[in-house]
Amino acid sequence: MFDPTTIDLRILRERAYNLRWATVPEGVIPLTAADPDFPSAPEIAEAICRFAKDRYLCYGPPEGLPEFKESMAGHYQAKRNLSIAPGNVFPVDSAAFGIYLTCRAFLRPGDEAIIFDPVDFLFRYSIESVGGTAVAFPIPPGDAPVDFQRLENSITQRTRLLCLCNPLNPTGKVFTKAELLCFGELACKYDLTILSDEIWSDIVYPPQIYTSIASLGEEISARTVTVTGFSKSYGLAGLRIGAVMATDADRFKKLMDASLHHPTIHGANVLSQVAATAALKECGYWLTGFLTHLHAMRNLVVGALNSIPGFACHSPEGCYVAFADISRTGKTSAAMRDLLFDKARVAIVPGLKEWFGEGAQGYIRISFATSEEIMQTALSNIKKTMQHL
Ligand SMILES: Cc1ncc(COP(=O)(O)O)c(C=O)c1O
Repeated sequence: MFDPTTIDLRILRERAYNLRWATVPEGVIPLTAADPDFPSAPEIAEAICRFAKDRYLCYGPPEGLPEFKESMAGHYQAKRNLSIAPGNVFPVDSAAFGIYLTCRAFLRPGDEAIIFDPVDFLFRYSIESVGGTAVAFPIPPGDAPVDFQRLENSITQRTRLLCLCNPLNPTGKVFTKAELLCFGELACKYDLTILSDEIWSDIVYPPQIYTSIASLGEEISARTVTVTGFSKSYGLAGLRIGAVMATDADRFKKLMDASLHHPTIHGANVLSQVAATAALKECGYWLTGFLTHLHAMRNLVVGALNSIPGFACHSPEGCYVAFADISRTGKTSAAMRDLLFDKARVAIVPGLKEWFGEGAQGYIRISFATSEEIMQTALSNIKKTMQHL
């Protein structure tokens, strides 16, 4: 399923946008936006076709299709030990919208929200879009303990939201249960809502074990909004489908009201909900195979990057991105992006503030959700380029 023959570069060059194959010149390998090069599981296309062939594509319920809500609740109960009623699962048109929606529901202009640094730009972007202030809390790549005292010191009278990204894109950190309990206790102490972005939670490499913060007791669960999506685990980014979940009735109502689903201004596409339901119900085998392949790619990429003079890369515990420290090459992240693009013919994401925050400076991010063949070519091009400097 995950060998080079399954990847159709002709189709990717026509369809894969967001810094990927359709946006780079011929000959450049885009290890940029974290979106797999592999086609999605066949059961997903079959489910979409079955639904579409009746030719009734009516309005769906604003709160989401019952089968989607039930599958999500079942999945979170079985895989994350989180008791959530189907009625408290709300499909939205992406995890990105889920993050934005949570900010819109829980932040007023002038409020503060704590975000990790580095972390995906979507957090800062969403907070600032609703007039809030993003307060960066450093979690540098590596094994250093999370500085909870510093986190507590950064909480003020205006802090309303604590934003978790677990596993953490771009560093690949997977938070332990003990760390999550500390986040939860601080949220309870200061009456904060927790936004837990868990879009990467299926992509965790053994022996690491994933914990959903909302599974850590009623008090923490009640103040948590869990956000997830289907772009990473199942390669459905173009379907724009995700979900927000909240066990607390008041918080759930705030999300529904802020979503504008009831007046039909926004809503989760019915076909996308059908596809996501099929992913959860029928595609576990595909995800298992994908994870096995990614595990091998992670080891390959980390080993290769660490053999390049001036590069240093921690092994990510989750996500399919490697976040390499390139500061000892003497180049900035942007200069390295340009060098690798021009000479190695490989596109990467530079550790710029606008992508990941201040803490990403001196790093580059490389996605490895591709075939071993493409990965080997890209890594060998990068290595040759750095050796010939
Ligand atoms: C941490 C994180 N959250 C959310 C998203 C966005 O996902 P979606 O495609 O569902 O909007 C991404 C995509 O890279 C991500 O890494």
